[in-house]
Amino acid sequence: MSLFLKNCWYAAAFSDEVSRKPLTRTLLDTPVVLYRKEDGTPVALLDRCPHRFAPLSTGTLVGDQIQCGYHGLRFDTAGRCVFNPHNDGKPLASANIESFHLFERYGLVWLWPGDPALADPALLPDFFFLEDEENFRVQTGSLHVKGNYQLVTDNLLDLTHAPYLHPGFAMPGVTVAQQLAATTTKVERIGQTVHYHRLRNGLPPNQATIDLFDFPVEPCETRTHMHWHAPALISFDNGTRFEHQSNLEGFWFPQAHCITPETETSCHYFFAAARNLKKDDPHIDEAIMNVLVTAFRDQDEPMIEAVQARMGATGDLDSLKPILLKTDTAPVMARRILKEMIAAENDATADAAVAAE
Ligand code: FES
Ligand SMILES: [Fe+2]
Repeated sequence: MSLFLKNCWYAAAFSDEVSRKPLTRTLLDTPVVLYRKEDGTPVALLDRCPHRFAPLSTGTLVGDQIQCGYHGLRFDTAGRCVFNPHNDGKPLASANIESFHLFERYGLVWLWPGDPALADPALLPDFFFLEDEENFRVQTGSLHVKGNYQLVTDNLLDLTHAPYLHPGFAMPGVTVAQQLAATTTKVERIGQTVHYHRLRNGLPPNQATIDLFDFPVEPCETRTHMHWHAPALISFDNGTRFEHQSNLEGFWFPQAHCITPETETSCHYFFAAARNLKKDDPHIDEAIMNVLVTAFRDQDEPMIEAVQARMGATGDLDSLKPILLKTDTAPVMARRILKEMIAAENDATADAAVAAE
């Protein structure tokens, strides 16, 4: 029985992390080696030689193949052992290893750990802003979080934590109570996706937006809409605009948040943030990265890690019977959908095993 959903996309790495130098990364409790073929196509194989379990990532590339750094078995991009130097270079089928289906888009290499026949790029969220250079400047970053990946989803799908954990996002002269009163929230499920809409009207922009873009301290509309796709991919539509402005005329700050389990209690968190204003200003690049790093690395991450530490060795929050607040609707909905999807997948796997007996 798998803890993780298999027939779905996981961000494995940023595209620029994968090169002709093998990269090792643990994904879904599995060591994976990533590299590029000579034509640039990315490859992912199990990072464990079946002979003495050496990490293949410490080996060398021979053309498109990877050669184990211990005793020289060589594997092709499909994981077949195509060369055994200790038997006249003959292939060794019993040494074949797992290979993983990949797809590259939005500056990320996506891994599909399940049945490759089901791998469908249309299942990715529409991160259009990562491909629109005319309107957006994109900045990326990643974190290694010592917490279950769903704790990061919880964090993003319940932004009521912002006034408490992210004081830098406060609005001048506005109390938390006023902020909550000015915010309307709507949560909806569409198929197997969750949409958490938050709209705040009649209050000034937050202080960071005022400082960065010389915005007036006047009433505006701020949206923080989260669109969740299983297992942990979130398209965040964040923006501030004044009356009669379109999204592009205001400040549009859409983001991709892609969380991939490393183990049950740790994850890789890839984020990419785009902005439409002052696109060519390196000072704004630096300031935006500071805002993101402060919020995600210095505030969210330590809290998520502290939560995981209190949970102990399990990633299963539900088993610990957390109390529920009204504001938990979106994260609970996402957790339920994911749980149903994993259960359905495990049932199908069990049925197939019985049928094969
Ligand atoms: S461990 Fe890889 S060839 Fe021996
Ligand atoms: Fe946060």
